[in-house]
Amino acid sequence: AALAAPAFAQGTFPTRTVNMIVPFAAGGPTDTVARLIAQAMSTSLGQTVVVENVGGAGGTLGAQRCAQARPDGYTILMHHIGMATIPTLYRRLAYDPINGFETIGLVTEVPMTLIGRNGLPAQTMTELAALVRREGEKLNYANAGIGAASHLCGLLLQQALGTKMTTVPYRGTGPAMNDLLAGTVDLMCDQTTNTTEQIKSGSVRGFAATTPERIAALPDLPTAAQGGLPGFEVSVWHGLYAPKGTPAPVITRLNQALVTALQDANVGTRFAALGTAPVPVARATPDAHRAFWQADIAKWRPLIQAAGQYAD
Ligand code: MLT
Repeated sequence: AALAAPAFAQGTFPTRTVNMIVPFAAGGPTDTVARLIAQAMSTSLGQTVVVENVGGAGGTLGAQRCAQARPDGYTILMHHIGMATIPTLYRRLAYDPINGFETIGLVTEVPMTLIGRNGLPAQTMTELAALVRREGEKLNYANAGIGAASHLCGLLLQQALGTKMTTVPYRGTGPAMNDLLAGTVDLMCDQTTNTTEQIKSGSVRGFAATTPERIAALPDLPTAAQGGLPGFEVSVWHGLYAPKGTPAPVITRLNQALVTALQDANVGTRFAALGTAPVPVARATPDAHRAFWQADIAKWRPLIQAAGQYAD
């Protein structure tokens, strides 16, 4: 049953700490985006926005926590492209993945990179493609569960290469990166917010960017098309959500704080260093967010169905 919306006196929200759920582990790409935005939103809201990591099940556990929270603005969710793929990927969920949420605004679009452990016997995308086709399931591909961006990217990669690797799921690509650095897994596709510094320092090997153009923060990294995989493109987007039924004035207040955060100089500088950027303000309205999200659900549905990939 829906929780009754609490009485709301215009202008008073928020009077206490706001909880921002991140549906993946701390230290990963969603967490990085959330912490930068939460800090900037805290300043304009005059209350602390605390990040809570609720990882697991490809981002569905954290989304469920938000959908089932009291719709009063004190629980919000920073989620990504998984909001558009989960409705097709999952046959059964304990929450409504489309109608369980109010949109607050889009936050970023983030390129992905295909990376591997140092020591892998491949230096370029062409060599890597040959290695994956040759070794197949002997190679370990790390992801953050079904519904994660790393899962979607891996699905497209395996489809493009016509082969399968062994999947190793984590609660987020933050912990997966630690295993890649330690060399206990071989490959991962992950957002530049988690990979730019590692690629630049040479602690992991960058093979390709999943973007049509090279990434400004990683000018030496070829695009997948340049590496021989045309059409292997994924861009991850983040958006901010509240439980369905959160009062409109509260959504408006949260949106204003988000827009202010997107225009914050420190946020812009940090995002640029991590290969991303805040979305233009026109895209950060609740309506623009909802329209983009719905279009992305429709875009990914046939691709996921064609790949035959579902979770139960
Ligand atoms: C994370 O924050 O761990 C990532 O966004 C996981 C993913 O979707 O690959």
